[in-house]
Amino acid sequence: MDLRIETGEAVVIIGRSGGGKSILLKHLIGLLSPDAGSVLVDGEDIAGLTERQLLRVRRRFGMLFQGAALFDSLNVEENVGFALRRERKWTEAEIGKKVDRVLEVVELSGTQKKMPAELSGGMKKRVVLARAIVYEPAFVLYDEPTTGLDPVVSDSIDRLIQRVNQHINVTSIVVTHDMRSAARVGERIIMLYEGRIHYSGTPKEIFDCADPIVNRFVNGISDTVVAEAPALMHGQRRKN
Ligand SMILES: Nc1ncnc2c1ncn2[C@@H]1O[C@H](COP(=O)(O)OP(=O)(O)OP(=O)(O)O)[C@@H](O)[C@H]1O
Ligand SMILES: [Mg+2]
Repeated sequence: MDLRIETGEAVVIIGRSGGGKSILLKHLIGLLSPDAGSVLVDGEDIAGLTERQLLRVRRRFGMLFQGAALFDSLNVEENVGFALRRERKWTEAEIGKKVDRVLEVVELSGTQKKMPAELSGGMKKRVVLARAIVYEPAFVLYDEPTTGLDPVVSDSIDRLIQRVNQHINVTSIVVTHDMRSAARVGERIIMLYEGRIHYSGTPKEIFDCADPIVNRFVNGISDTVVAEAPALMHGQRRKN
């Protein structure tokens, strides 16, 4: 894979389940190291760095992991400020300020004292997003930020991603299955297929693309022919 992402860009990565999207994100922050090749962050190859050196690099990233959860026993404020407190670099007042600011960005002002159990799924996602950007990262990586959310909530998360991208001028890399979401947040969409970048283009280019692999993916059409389907439709079950 050969991929270059410019500062301030909003890039979306799409591709089949198991295609290596999450793995790609993990390489970008040095949670995984490539067998060969390099991963350059602002010109620095992070592939050979030690864990200690990587901590410095990772501080510049915010990451929304796939299926990320909140600490159930901590309230919103404590969840968002968790990593900051652990560093013992800021006073409580400073942490409070940073948390307030970031909760405002995700439109959750006033929820500081709420427990995760009191939040809806969409609100939890926004708290997770607040936690990812509280460090004011230069790069934010989102792994499936809208999976499992209804279309309206997904739309609001997409708006937030755009807002974060513009507001604090970050570089955004978003992995998603959701093509509507991809079109909304991506300035450029990259499609992975069989371990390679199969296509890269603007949302319009990718939706208009005649390539059958791209076309099937963006329109959600399976490429496996289901031979049993007609039989099943007549109520007959295949015996295993
Ligand atoms: N730490 C790891 N080391 C080696 N292989 C891994 C590791 N984690 C996942 N894999 C494998 O790499 C492949 C890609 O996984 P990955 O999680 O990146 O897929 P994905 O594109 O994110 O899929 P999904 O859309 O379902 O999240 C899978 O075959 C998976 O089993
Ligand atoms: Mg994944």
